[in-house]
Amino acid sequence: MVGIKRLICQSHELQEGGKGVRFDLPEVGDRVTGFAVRFDGKVFAYINRCAHVPIELDWSPGEFFDATGNYLICATHGAYYQADTGDCVAGPCRGKRLEPIQVVEQAQQILITLKV
Ligand code: FES
Repeated sequence: MVGIKRLICQSHELQEGGKGVRFDLPEVGDRVTGFAVRFDGKVFAYINRCAHVPIELDWSPGEFFDATGNYLICATHGAYYQADTGDCVAGPCRGKRLEPIQVVEQAQQILITLKV
């Protein structure tokens, strides 16, 4: 298994509780996307696929947080996920979780590492 490191965006593009940055993941599959968000000062990234039905969370591209900015929410049936762990805490897939992607922030850049 090899780790592929990829630049996703610049640090300033991810604001606390703000819009997420989407990115394509051709290494994972056709039309699979991922996203990164900033929460509690740290950056988290996940595959953009709900644990309930395997579709993207954001209807409106980049809108992953609920109105409070505390949880990630799936626009389809309203599952709530903890932004820092990806655990579903409310909704139809409670107890399941988003699939995390390894992410680091260094030199004002956000980079993911994919294991392929
Ligand atoms: S598809 Fe996400 S909650 Fe149903």
